[in-house]
Amino acid sequence: MIDLRSDTFTKPTPEMLQAMINADVGDDVYGEDPTVNLLQKKIANLFGKEAALFVPSGTMSNQLSLKVLSEPGNEVITDADAHVFYYETAAPAILSNLLFRTIPSESGQIPIDEIEKHIRPKIYYFADTKIIALENTHNRHGGTVIELDYIKAVRDLADKHGIHTHLDGARIWNAHIASGVSFEEYGKYFDTISVCLSKGMGAPIGSLIISDKPRIPKALKWRKILGGGMRQVGYIAACGLYALENNLPLLKIDHDNARYFANEIANLDGISIDLRKVQTNIVIFELDKRIKSEVFVEQCKERGLLLSNFGDNKIRIVTYHQISKTNIQNAVEIVKEVMIKMMKD
Ligand SMILES: Cc1ncc(COP(=O)(O)O)c(C=O)c1O
Repeated sequence: MIDLRSDTFTKPTPEMLQAMINADVGDDVYGEDPTVNLLQKKIANLFGKEAALFVPSGTMSNQLSLKVLSEPGNEVITDADAHVFYYETAAPAILSNLLFRTIPSESGQIPIDEIEKHIRPKIYYFADTKIIALENTHNRHGGTVIELDYIKAVRDLADKHGIHTHLDGARIWNAHIASGVSFEEYGKYFDTISVCLSKGMGAPIGSLIISDKPRIPKALKWRKILGGGMRQVGYIAACGLYALENNLPLLKIDHDNARYFANEIANLDGISIDLRKVQTNIVIFELDKRIKSEVFVEQCKERGLLLSNFGDNKIRIVTYHQISKTNIQNAVEIVKEVMIKMMKD
């Protein structure tokens, strides 16, 4: 089976498992796991920040970031398709009593004047707009890279209005590989950053909140409240360290494979795809209205290809390091066969 549903399907390689076995561990709830401490330090340094905290998931690191930047009743502005709003249940409301102002955008970049229009005047009967949250790369927009100039403009706007900025950088690794912008540069423009090691980077579990030192104790407390204090979790942190050294450069191959897939299916009758949005390891394409996406997904599955039904008759595929070029070529053939058959039926 060729599984292109998500880069969360990566599995630890034998070398990564060996890194786990070799890890030096301690009790991380006591702050005494040397491998966790090393990973936190390395990641904080990489982004030019003072501190980082290892947490079980990207959802937890996003939500704890919002928590440390806000007070109950504050408002967050984000793109309508942002993961932090779209996929994380009602966590911002439940955990932090936050209100969300979501604005639709083309590729995860809400025009700056649109954001500014939605920042509330500081009058007592309005909620306080406290956070602008970006996502880079942007999953639901097809792995698009948020441009550095745009990020700078968001930071300027946030500073003008005394607002914090948060980055959902679950796939910031892919953004860095595609754009060449350093992690340290990205780090300059955000008060909190969430990164995931469990996606294209190939670790089984693990995300980090990166921020300034004074914000970390609150995140640590809330990680504990949520039951996210883990003990000898250096075994998992070792996978993250391994991924930073070894898997980061492999993302370029994933991007090439996604581009190849997109180019190959772009001209098929019944498929439309915006090739400008194919920038990293995600491809989203739309099916002709006469084709039902659930039937298309089922037909592909019968031929050995798993894809995600992404809503609105759209399909998403994601490449990762355990998907080879041959897998991608086979996936293209399956999509072609199914499309030709379904357009005829
Ligand atoms: C952009 C983005 N942010 C956050 C997350 C949440 O990560 P997790 O599944 O580890 O909670 C995901 C998960 O796919 C994601 O794609």
